[in-house]
Amino acid sequence: MKITDDIIYVGVNDHDIDLFEGQFIVPNGMAYNSYVIKDEKIAVMDTVDANFAEEWLGNIEAAVEGKTPDYLIVQHMEPDHSANIMKFVEKYPEAKVVANTKAFQMMSNFFRNVDLGDKKVEVKNKETLSLGAHELTFLFAPMVHWPEVMVTYDSKDKVLFSADAFGKFGALDADEDWDCEARRYYFGIVGKYGKQAENLLKAAEGLDIEKICALHGPILTENLEHYIGQYKTWTSYGVESEGVMIAYTSVYGNTKKAAEALAEELKAKGCPKVVLTDLAREDMAEAVEDAFRYGKLVLATTTYNADIFPFMRTFIDGLTERAYQNRTIGIIENGSWAIMAGKVIKGLFEKSKDITWTDTTVSIMSSMNEENEAQIKALAEELCR
Ligand code: FEO
Repeated sequence: MKITDDIIYVGVNDHDIDLFEGQFIVPNGMAYNSYVIKDEKIAVMDTVDANFAEEWLGNIEAAVEGKTPDYLIVQHMEPDHSANIMKFVEKYPEAKVVANTKAFQMMSNFFRNVDLGDKKVEVKNKETLSLGAHELTFLFAPMVHWPEVMVTYDSKDKVLFSADAFGKFGALDADEDWDCEARRYYFGIVGKYGKQAENLLKAAEGLDIEKICALHGPILTENLEHYIGQYKTWTSYGVESEGVMIAYTSVYGNTKKAAEALAEELKAKGCPKVVLTDLAREDMAEAVEDAFRYGKLVLATTTYNADIFPFMRTFIDGLTERAYQNRTIGIIENGSWAIMAGKVIKGLFEKSKDITWTDTTVSIMSSMNEENEAQIKALAEELCR
């Protein structure tokens, strides 16, 4: 696949993977992107997952048409992109490996007893590398997603090689919406480091970008304002869509009934969007991205072992460890003797920034009574205000 006259896609699709990074379901597989830039000198941008070494090396061979790559540029050392560095070096012993100090340190840990010697080209932030007509500028992007990450700007073709930023789940042959799987990817993988991702956007602001080539997901060639706009919202923990997410766990159905009653009440009041999520059955990464998408969240759960139900705890941990902030939260708590859930939930968000708690908490003793029904109405009223 040609991206420009000189830039060729040499990545691979993975439809065999069960869990990406050991935890994320990827029903439509995953793409590990890699690119060849052909000029007086030839550069290869990153490698791919270990299972695809032969396919990837074959793609490079076809792209370079009998020539030999001069550089392998390593933007990120996570093994989904770096696993084949040594295979590349073995096949192309004359080529140089271009990376920053941190990446070379990691390389020596991933590949024991290997000395790249004079093949190493260590670059600094904002340093450039000329391939001929193409001048590459390396911009460090620490913690998007690991500390050694850098992105690369090609000023000739106006391409930003953005590493994990702007990536998404799903192989390239998957026909699916970018936003949903890019949002799940961003919040699942990079979400904790919004500030650092925001810094990358600021650094890229002055660049004339016509195409974004990420390490996962499609090459973005049109409507870049949309993708950049989404990233601006996500990295700043802004509200993307007006609406309320109700996330619940329910053991015998009574908490679920309350969550559903609230959803009905909100819809009746014309709430623009109500998302009802059973945390025991929904993909947790999908639930987490929804919580970041909407501005208002209701947590409905039972008291359990003087704490909260395990799926709710996992969900809240998923939010707080990703710096969940700038949101309104309401609580529906349930318990059959000592109700603790609300108190526990508030404690878990103690260190979170800019959380507004609703005045109303729905507090249920085993099953809803008339007072609870009134509380549900009051909570809906507050959330619609
Ligand atoms: Fe796609 Fe952070 O590796």
